Amino acid sequence: MQLTNHDAANPSYWQARWREGRTGWDLGGVHPLFSELMQEAHAAGLKPNARVIEPGCGRAHTGAALAKMNYIVTAFDVSKEAVDAAKVLYANETKLELVVADLFALPSNWSNSFDAVYDRAVLCALPQASRPSYVHACAKILKTGGLFLSIPFTKLHISASEGPPFAVDEANLESLFEADFEKVCHIEKQHSVKDSKIACEMLIVWRKK
Ligand SMILES: C[S@@+](CC[C@H](N)C(=O)[O-])C[C@H]1O[C@@H](n2cnc3c(N)ncnc32)[C@H](O)[C@@H]1O
Repeated sequence: MQLTNHDAANPSYWQARWREGRTGWDLGGVHPLFSELMQEAHAAGLKPNARVIEPGCGRAHTGAALAKMNYIVTAFDVSKEAVDAAKVLYANETKLELVVADLFALPSNWSNSFDAVYDRAVLCALPQASRPSYVHACAKILKTGGLFLSIPFTKLHISASEGPPFAVDEANLESLFEADFEKVCHIEKQHSVKDSKIACEMLIVWRKK
C-alpha cells in the first residue's frame, strides 16, 4: 500500500521510508545549533551524567554526541532499520543505548526517568493532530523539572500538504506545552541547515512542572 505524506502519524510511513532509503532529513551529524541549544540546557541546570532520551533518533547522531558529552543516553526509533543503522555507526558509545520503540506506546518503566528529552525533527515530523500525544508522552517520561529541548521549524517554504516536515509556530508551541511545562527559553533563528524547505527555526527549552 502506498502511504501518503499525511500518514506521518503512522509508524508504517516512517518504516517504509527507512526501508526505501528515503532519509533526506539526516544531517550526517548534529544540527549546527546543537552546541547553542546545549548551552541553554546547561544554563537551565542540565548536568553531565544526567539521563537524556532522544525520540525518533534515526541514525542517532545527536544521541552519540550527547553520550560523548557524558550524558547517559537512550535513543529510540520506531524503525528497526534506523536503530540497526545507528548501531553500525555508534556501537562503541558505551553511554548510548539504542532501542526500537514507538513513542505512542513507550515502556511503562520509562515513566519519570529522564532529565531531558532531545527532540530533533520529530515534533515537526508529526502532523499537528499527533503533537499533543507526543508532548504528553515526553512529559510522562521526564522527571519533574526535566527539560524538553528542540530546534523546531517555525516557518517552511512548503505547504502543510507537502509535509513532513510541518511547521510549528510560537502560538502552537505555547498551546502544546503550557499544560505540563513552563517555558525556559524560545530563541528565534534564521534557517541554519542547508535545506530549501526551512525558512526559520527556534531554539526551545521547556521545563516539566
Ligand atoms: C524526520 S526523522 C528525524 C530523525 C533524526 N531525529 C534525525 O534528526 O536525523 C523522524 C524520525 O522519527 C521516527 N519516528 C516516526 N514516528 C515514530 C514513532 N511513533 N515512534 C518512534 N519514532 C518515530 C522516524 O522513523 C524517523 O527516524
